[in-house]
Order: sequence, then C-alpha cells, then structure tokens
Amino acid sequence: MLLLLLQVLASCLWLGHSEVVTSFESSCPQFFFQNTPPNEALVPENPAWICQRYKNQYYFATLYDMSRRIPVYSAYIYQPGSGKRPNTWLIEPQVSVLSSYPKTMERERTLSKEIKITLEEIGKHQAVLQDYKNLTGLNRGHLNPNSHHSDFNSRTATFTLTNIVPQNEKLNGGAWNNYEQQTMIKNTKGCNNTYVVVGAVPGNNYIANGRVNKPSYIWASACCELNTKDRKTWAVIAENDRDEVKSLTLGELEDKLTQLYGRSRVSLFDSACPRK
Ligand SMILES: *[C@@H]1O[C@H](CO)[C@@H](O)[C@H](O)[C@H]1NC(C)=O
Ligand SMILES: *[C@@H]1O[C@H](CO)[C@@H](O)[C@H](O)[C@H]1NC(C)=O
Repeated sequence: MLLLLLQVLASCLWLGHSEVVTSFESSCPQFFFQNTPPNEALVPENPAWICQRYKNQYYFATLYDMSRRIPVYSAYIYQPGSGKRPNTWLIEPQVSVLSSYPKTMERERTLSKEIKITLEEIGKHQAVLQDYKNLTGLNRGHLNPNSHHSDFNSRTATFTLTNIVPQNEKLNGGAWNNYEQQTMIKNTKGCNNTYVVVGAVPGNNYIANGRVNKPSYIWASACCELNTKDRKTWAVIAENDRDEVKSLTLGELEDKLTQLYGRSRVSLFDSACPRK
C-alpha cells in the first residue's frame, strides 16, 4: 500500500517531457506515414510544433495554434488497449513562454511552484484548466484519445490541454465516441500499422472570455498499411454542435478542409495513401 502511494506520488512529481520543435520531420517524423506530415495548408499564423514527450519518450505529435489556444491536429499511430483512464492534466512549459523553459509536460501547479511562473504566464499561449471550467454543453474533447494507446504512459501523454478542444458534450460522448471505439476497431481489421491524423477547424465562437476557440468541425483521417504495398484510408467529419459523424473518403475530407481552411490545397497524408 505504501509502495503504491509512493509510486503515485512519484508519478505526480515527475511528469515527463514535451518539446516544441522547429519541424516534425527533424524531431518526430515517426508518427506520420512515410515520415510525411500534413502540408502547410493547415499551419495557422501562430503555430507551435509539439513532439509530445513523456518520461523521455515521444508518444505523438501536435500542431498547436497559440492564438486560438487549440490544437490544429494531433497525429499518432493507433495501438488500442484496455486499461485505466489516467486522471492528470498536463501542460507544455515550452509553449507558454520561452524555449529555455523545461521540455517537461507538467501539471500547472508543479510548474508554477518549480520555476516560479504565474498561471497568467502559463496561459499566455495555451489553454489552462481554468479555461475549461464552467462550460455548458461543451467538455474537453481529446483529438488523440487515450483509448487508442495500449500502455499507461502513452495514455497519460494524451492528457495535455494541447491535445484538447472544447467539444460538444453530446458529440464527445455519443457519435464521436462511437467512431473512436467501434468504427476504428472495424476499419482497422487487417491493418498492420494505422497512422491517424485528427483535427479541429476553428470556429467563430470562443469560450473562457475569448481565450479559447470553439471549433466548428472536428475531423479524423487514417491511412492503414495492410501489408508492405497495399494501403487503405478512411475519414470522418462532425459539426461541433450536433451529435452526428459523417463518413467520407480521404479525398473528400481533403476537399472539404481545403474549402473550410481557405488557404492552399490540403494534403493530410503522403500520396501513397489512396484518396478513395
Ligand atoms: C459561469 O457561467 C455562468 C453562466 O454562463 C456565468 O454567469 C458565471 O459568471 C460563470 N462563472 C465564472 C466563474 O466564470
Ligand atoms: C508490419 O509492420 C512492421 C513494421 O511496423 C514490418 O516490420 C512488417 O514487415 C509488416 N508486416 C507486413 C505483413 O506488412
């Protein structure tokens, strides 16, 4: 019992590493099929490329929008497993202020104590827990969900607010959850490796006194390697104010996102992933 308590304590005090990098290709390309991240059509004005690191290991990659304080997308490899849902929320010191801060993914309280940084400073470029309090009809929606990972550390690493958007509560617990659980299991039958990119399209509304954007859409896409030469893909999109998920081909999702983001043509995966 004491040992367990000590372990819990230790894991609360040291929560691992997370790193803001200059490009995914140079630091954590392994979360993208053929080491190829989505193209620049999704990059916002004020971006942070985060290789999500925890206990000295990279677990996934997130492109973060520091102005709207929500992720653009998270990219990861699908390796589902059962187990306990972690219950700790983390933030990234390096997004907050300067890269001289530790690479650690930390709890807010730990961070403000250890490096004497105020909550205001922490929240300058990223969402903090307070932003997600007192919401009505919305809750914290993971882009990269903890259930898509098989061990406790990789699940814990998903509990960073840089991987979270304000999501319609009904959608998060309803059709989106059904996609994450049932549909993904069905679609990944026969897949040797499945690369996933899940994102959120910024909307016109904000929560937390204008600090955090409420996305208009949430979307997901996957490229599965059936064997060394055959691949299949799929995609979904959901409006963030109704409990409904629409299925579409990868090509159709890219068309839709090209229109919604309104910059250049969106490409989510290397061209070896079929568009339909
Ligand atoms: C919580 O929300 C209610 C209703 O939207 C609002 O009146 C109240 O000021 C909010 N409280 C805080 C602490 O933000
Ligand atoms: C499955 O993927 C692994 C690498 O993750 C590779 O070594 C192996 O050859 C693949 N198997 C098939 C059947 O493609």
